[in-house]
Amino acid sequence: MGKLDGKVAFITGAARGQGRAHALRLAEEGADIIAVDICAQIDTVGYPLATPEDLDETAALVEKFGRRIVASIADVRDLEALRAAFDAGVAALGPCQIVVANAGIHPIGTMGDRAAAGWRDALDVILTGSWNTLQVSMPQMVEAGKGGSIILISSSNGLKGHTDGSGGWDGYVAAKHGLVGLMRAYAWYLGPHHIRVNSIHPSGVPTPMTMNHLFGEYTASTPPERQWRLGNAMPVEWLQPEDIANAVLWLASDDARYVSGVTLSVDAGSNVL
Ligand SMILES: NC(=O)c1ccc[n+]([C@@H]2O[C@H](COP(=O)([O-])OP(=O)(O)OC[C@H]3O[C@@H](n4cnc5c(N)ncnc54)[C@H](O)[C@@H]3O)[C@@H](O)[C@H]2O)c1
Repeated sequence: MGKLDGKVAFITGAARGQGRAHALRLAEEGADIIAVDICAQIDTVGYPLATPEDLDETAALVEKFGRRIVASIADVRDLEALRAAFDAGVAALGPCQIVVANAGIHPIGTMGDRAAAGWRDALDVILTGSWNTLQVSMPQMVEAGKGGSIILISSSNGLKGHTDGSGGWDGYVAAKHGLVGLMRAYAWYLGPHHIRVNSIHPSGVPTPMTMNHLFGEYTASTPPERQWRLGNAMPVEWLQPEDIANAVLWLASDDARYVSGVTLSVDAGSNVL
């Protein structure tokens, strides 16, 4: 018996990286999946975002666990497209009890005349996109009356800050901190419905967001005496997507049935540096 048998989970940014790991871990424990991803590029992002083939691959892997998946291409910034994707999933799979607002971008290096656009895109995707994810899923969860778990994927950069001084990185840090406020407000607002809301704060995970030349150049250009603050307290350079997925599973499951309003750091102690 799985920890999530009979449940349905809505996951944004599910085509690859951590979002895919969340879809697979939850499916492994019995959940059916509503997956969305933009599968297209955003100009201010200096590394490739996911492709339709990536999303197909997530779907095939979920099905290997014998679970069902409704996968749609949708931009979390587009409220109506996101609503259509969520509604199509619920129509096919039944009411949803688990939401993982995971889609994100890191417009690192957007300097000069690209700074304002980088700032705006980071806020639009991360903060407005997560708010949109709440808006389209919450009414159905309340109406179904079965409680649930909403998980906002923030970052270690949602509890502390560093930046390359670009608009995109500034926006990333500001938006990831903003998610904590949104999480706390909705933990309070949805508490009477037994819907729990928490945020997860990973430190570095080797996905396309970090495995690119821009990120490497930023780390290399940080003066040696400041490097320590970019690392973790434990002697590990990277966490794996599965480490974050295990935390998502815990928050989604009844093992965490009275955990709400929590900022959960999964960061090998980065937050104490
Ligand atoms: N990689 C890290 O070191 C790290 C650390 C802390 C937090 N995070 C956060 O984890 C989450 C997952 O990131 P990842 O590391 O898997 O990176 P990733 O780039 O591999 O995955 C992000 C996914 O979101 C999708 N996406 C981007 N914009 C979208 C939009 N507007 N609408 C729908 N989908 C969109 C992308 O196509 C991609 O599939 C992000 O919120 C990220 O900020 C990452």
